Amino acid sequence: QPKHLSDYAAPDYLIETVDLDFHLEPERTIVHADLAMRPNPEAKAARPLVLDGEGVELISIAVDGKPLQPDEYSATETGLTVPDVPTGPFTLSLKTACNPEANEALLGLYRSNGAFCTQCEPEGFRRITFFLDRPDVLATYRVRLEADKKTNPVLLSNGNPVERGDVEGTDRHYAVWEDPHPKPSYLFAAVAGDLAKISDSFTTQSGREVALNIYVEHGKEDRCDWAMESLKNAMKWDEERFGREYDLDVFNIVAVSDFNMGAMENKGLNIFNDKLVLARPDTASDADYAAIEGVIAHEYFHNWTGNRITCRDWFQLCLKEGLTVFRDQEFSADLRAGPVKRILDVRNLKSRQFPEDSGPLAHPVRPGSYIEINNFYTATVYEKGAELCRMLQTMLGRDDFRKGLDLYFERHDGQAVTVEDFLAALADASGKDLSEFMHWYNQAGTPELACSLDYDQQSKTATLNVSQILPATPGQPNKEPMPIPLRIGLLGPNGDDLPLTLEDGTELSDGLLEVTEREQSFTFTGIPTPPTPSLLREFSAPVRLTQTIDLEQIEFLMMHDSDPFNRWQAAQSYAAKLLTDAARDRYNPEPVKGQGASRLAKALAVTANEEELAYAYRGEMLKLPSESDIARELARNIDTDAIREARETLRETIGNAIHADLAGIYEELADTGPYSPDGISAGKRSMRIAALDLLVGSGKDDELERAAAHYRGATNMTDAIYSLLILAPHDDPRRDEAMADFYERWKDDALVLDKWFAVQARSARPDSVEIVEGLLSHPKFSLKNPNRVRALIGSFANGNPTGFNRKDGAGYEFLAECALRIDKFNPHMAARLLGAFESWRFLEPNREAHAKATLEGLANAELSTDSYEIVSKTLGDE
Ligand code: ARG
Ligand code: ZN
Repeated sequence: QPKHLSDYAAPDYLIETVDLDFHLEPERTIVHADLAMRPNPEAKAARPLVLDGEGVELISIAVDGKPLQPDEYSATETGLTVPDVPTGPFTLSLKTACNPEANEALLGLYRSNGAFCTQCEPEGFRRITFFLDRPDVLATYRVRLEADKKTNPVLLSNGNPVERGDVEGTDRHYAVWEDPHPKPSYLFAAVAGDLAKISDSFTTQSGREVALNIYVEHGKEDRCDWAMESLKNAMKWDEERFGREYDLDVFNIVAVSDFNMGAMENKGLNIFNDKLVLARPDTASDADYAAIEGVIAHEYFHNWTGNRITCRDWFQLCLKEGLTVFRDQEFSADLRAGPVKRILDVRNLKSRQFPEDSGPLAHPVRPGSYIEINNFYTATVYEKGAELCRMLQTMLGRDDFRKGLDLYFERHDGQAVTVEDFLAALADASGKDLSEFMHWYNQAGTPELACSLDYDQQSKTATLNVSQILPATPGQPNKEPMPIPLRIGLLGPNGDDLPLTLEDGTELSDGLLEVTEREQSFTFTGIPTPPTPSLLREFSAPVRLTQTIDLEQIEFLMMHDSDPFNRWQAAQSYAAKLLTDAARDRYNPEPVKGQGASRLAKALAVTANEEELAYAYRGEMLKLPSESDIARELARNIDTDAIREARETLRETIGNAIHADLAGIYEELADTGPYSPDGISAGKRSMRIAALDLLVGSGKDDELERAAAHYRGATNMTDAIYSLLILAPHDDPRRDEAMADFYERWKDDALVLDKWFAVQARSARPDSVEIVEGLLSHPKFSLKNPNRVRALIGSFANGNPTGFNRKDGAGYEFLAECALRIDKFNPHMAARLLGAFESWRFLEPNREAHAKATLEGLANAELSTDSYEIVSKTLGDE
């Protein structure tokens, strides 16, 4: 059943042009498709024509205008076979039907809030008509959409609009769209409905004027400004940083409220989860604003990295996703405080990708096999994939990396290619041999980089010993060493960076080493006294750094490191050391109450008061590692209650130790003025809320009142939602009041109400399983809407470690039941939720046993292919 990369074969037939005619009706949409086909000269000739299809009803079929008889083809639930087709070019005409209204998997053509929309990546087009639904079949499309005019005034597809008009004698109208750029079927899109539009325009660097439109539900027009501004910024940035210009007359974005993922880069017609478009200061938090900016840019950037140059097969998914995530990260870093963006990206990588890479679902950035490709839209493919592109940029240098990308675009425009093609372009343009780098794409697992520094007084040299340890992962017991860019600094006694000179005289002006062996040493000369090493600056490689370093040195780095990333990392490591010491095996309060904890508190107060540092950065410094960060550090025998107790105690210690500093920060940042999403204002809010969190953590009762007052005085969603989150775990009437107030105010606003569900799901309370279970029957809850499911069930499983991992296993049972119900109609969504079990083997024995029993129950249930793959791999073979 699994598909293998090594089985790739070119398609037997090619499709040159696609002519589609949609007669849109909610319950029975008819599609006429004329496909101009020919045998692929590169494939073995004279094979039957086999088209993909899924749940499509075939009404008629003709070749070169001649209808086929029933014995000349066979159409099934999964495809269409025509044994005898011409040996030269021919036109295949198909008339098919599908039912958008009944489509609850949200793949193919479906309905969201009364509008027709599509999601074709990766294999949804085959739910619309029979097709060679694979990314290496590229065609130009002409699309005619016809629908009832009153209920569907808007008719959109890919490319440029060429014609529209009424269908005489009916209530219907039509529009014709042409996309001149050859594309694979997964980039097809169509939208029809009654939508509001906001418009703007952008003039490209070569002077082409592009009409920009965002389509949203009526009444939401005032929530589109930020998305539009982000789009224009992205278009400009891609021209300046990568020389990439847009290539159509229009760029359309449609926001829909039922969407399995974040957004989709369909050529010229991006379709978005409305959560990633709609923002107004009172409805969206700073984090929402940042996410919108990033995802609008991400989908736009796909136009070159994904659309103009696409993937040969789905094993190459990282070719477009890793590169495009890297590009959107760089965009956001350029627009906002760069180091803070790096901190957020690394935090995200470590919290989502590292567990995946160390668990039963570990897979290479470019997987070698899969059962269901929908299960491979993972943190590994996306986020680790982006880290690989970042390492390439680091090793080649920005200029050569840019040259390499230029060559990639020039060489492969209009093609469907592989990771090897990408690396070849970078290697050819830079002259650097990248053959060993392929291991990063093919080997799963997070490498451990074990480092130690030896100082020799006699010769005044410091030697850095590095070894890379490559853990076994499912199906990959042995691994080859990989090239690892390791950026470092050595701090002298006053905290300044020492000049780095290698034994052979090479000066490392940028502190960049390249580790290529399993074991390697680097000796630096002219080091007068024992230095403090600052390793893996900027997080220059996605590895787990382990080193022999004591708390005093970590504290020194926390105060002095010139690399902002590592300075933050030092603060995190310091806290993590105390927290893991407290939560290992049996809870022991000493480390989080004693000397070390007060030293950490003082150091935090010092950095928090350093005015040269950006607000957002100081805010990050004040945030303790999360409960899941601590679990990851512990790595085994995880007791989520002990972790929470340790963290709450450290929060209390710090909140009391530097109470006056925190209160000072809180007061000083009180006036943030009228809401603006810019980095500085958002940074102030973030730092102020970080202080508030520690103040409330101190346990003084008036501090809870401070949080309640913060909520009552909030004039934007950021202040409202974070104070609500801080209040949420407390048993206090002020918490209940705030929660009720929020509900009353936002009960009719789907996106904001999602936050109300999420806050409760994330709130660590002894009865949180029951609370979340109760909310399943709330009148506003629905299993059919992915955003609501993620808000309640997803937030609980991934954002409430003590609740989900409750000792009695109730959290696991709850998730399994929900996933089983959802699996019946939306397998993609169910499989995603089940990913929350990925770390079950690292739990303490009692919880591990509960999780195992739940997983075994799931394995015995009737599951979709999607969920089956996740459950069976998660259980693994014993
Ligand atoms: N390509 C989209 C992106 O920008 C993701 C679409 C994934 N959809 C899916 N059903 N797996 O990342
Ligand atoms: Zn993407």
